[in-house]
Amino acid sequence: MPAPTPTDVPWWRGGVVYQVYPRSFADSNGDGVGDLDGAASRMGHLKDLGVDAVWFSPFYRSPMADFGYDIDDHCDVDPLFGDLGAADRLIETAHRSGLRVVLDFVPGHTSDRHPWFAESRSSRGNPRRGWYVWRDPAPDGGPPTDWRAAFGDYPAWTLDPTTGQYYLHLFLPEQPDLDWNHPEVAAAMTDVLRFWSDRGVDGFRIDVVHTVGKRLDVDTPAELRGIPACVLDHGPGVHLRLTELRSRTDAFPSPPALIGETYVFDRERVVDFLGHGDQLHLAFNIPALHSPWDATVWRDEMASAIDLYDPVDGWPCWVLSNHDVPRHRTRYGTEARARAAAVLLLTQRGTPFLYQGEELGLADAVVEGDRVVDPGGRDGCRAPIPWDDSPGCGWPADPWLPFAPDAVALSVARQSGDPASMLEHYRRLLRLRRTEPVLSVGRVEILDAPDGVLRYRRWLDEPPGGAAAELEVLVNFTDEPVEVPGVSGRWVGGTAPPGETPAPGQGLGPDEARVVDPRG
Ligand code: GLC
Repeated sequence: MPAPTPTDVPWWRGGVVYQVYPRSFADSNGDGVGDLDGAASRMGHLKDLGVDAVWFSPFYRSPMADFGYDIDDHCDVDPLFGDLGAADRLIETAHRSGLRVVLDFVPGHTSDRHPWFAESRSSRGNPRRGWYVWRDPAPDGGPPTDWRAAFGDYPAWTLDPTTGQYYLHLFLPEQPDLDWNHPEVAAAMTDVLRFWSDRGVDGFRIDVVHTVGKRLDVDTPAELRGIPACVLDHGPGVHLRLTELRSRTDAFPSPPALIGETYVFDRERVVDFLGHGDQLHLAFNIPALHSPWDATVWRDEMASAIDLYDPVDGWPCWVLSNHDVPRHRTRYGTEARARAAAVLLLTQRGTPFLYQGEELGLADAVVEGDRVVDPGGRDGCRAPIPWDDSPGCGWPADPWLPFAPDAVALSVARQSGDPASMLEHYRRLLRLRRTEPVLSVGRVEILDAPDGVLRYRRWLDEPPGGAAAELEVLVNFTDEPVEVPGVSGRWVGGTAPPGETPAPGQGLGPDEARVVDPRG
């Protein structure tokens, strides 16, 4: 069988996806909040960067209690972001720029203002009562189970005085949980996917997908008390729901890729969400998102990906930053580490997801006092993108959140064309991944390396014409120089700025990451 190349593997396997958080991406109408026309005007940035697909966090109608993850109309655009026409223009512009489009799909809950919930809460006998999770109080009048909500220290159940029952909300009380055990819920939510698929969307990032199909009516296991219920193991029901969902979306005229936010901390459970190729196409490797900058931990991450995904023909999905966690530039602590991390991420076997602004090396913004807006404490990683080096960084009005530190110096305009910049580093790496299919679809093997260094080989038995059959990657996780026995080969990429590339056989500098062609 010929070796795979990026052209004959599906885009979600061969490509790199870039996450846009629309509120903070680009503002076209001067209200300080990013919007869809603004995003469309910046698709050129993604094209120049060299990514293959773009995922947009929610822009649907929403009261914005959780900044769009509380939806009250799944098939319309919130006026803050534009309208359906703007969504169509954005999809078309992205496609014209050669980008696949992924939208966020939030199956687990709606807004409490959604008409479905208004009906559901109106009476115990309402036909939509069973669309949400209602339970009688415990014998003492308290919540039915001890489940905790995700943001803040309070129960995941709220008593609704009208009917005297509690409803479940794994997140805010304004985000009541849908009950996917009800067949009409699954059907209605599939209609939502069909609506957007018919508008040309290529895939969906499915929000907290592991909670679709909950094991209800059980208390938290003693050893996990205090942990939010959204990260509990909800058992096999979810896999049944996902298999059903996949068979429905596979029947669409253009079957979308299903990419799950599988917020579980056990690597073996992440891969379970791929089923036997009949559930999700990709499942975010959440343990890696929370891994520290440590060669041993990352070696384990990669080794377990090889052990777990290859036997089931699964494909890993790697991410270092998103709109929910401090940016990796902040978590790992230095720009030098962020540069090395970009090499690590973009030389993995599996689909890498980038989060807007990581290509600029942004750290989290400092958000304090009355500028704090997110109930989950996530404002810092959601700071607006600095486009140019004017005082407003290309935003026509003061944006809804403050900029990250050094925003002017890190703006797209300032970094573009500067070979030493983080932006050009990402552009070079993405170009390398594109021109060397061994990096996107080749196999991987971990090699011996000194302490603090991760060394691996990527290879293809039959590379397409002109491409390397084999490349080796070395990442120095320490801030000391390290000699690596046996390292040789032609330098093809890495953290060294162009013109200062290390000689074959040279040891690794502090925080250096390097890609070499061992046969070159
Ligand atoms: C996901 C989203 C997060 C949101 C939560 C509830 O984790 O990424 O932003 O708050 O789900 O929808």
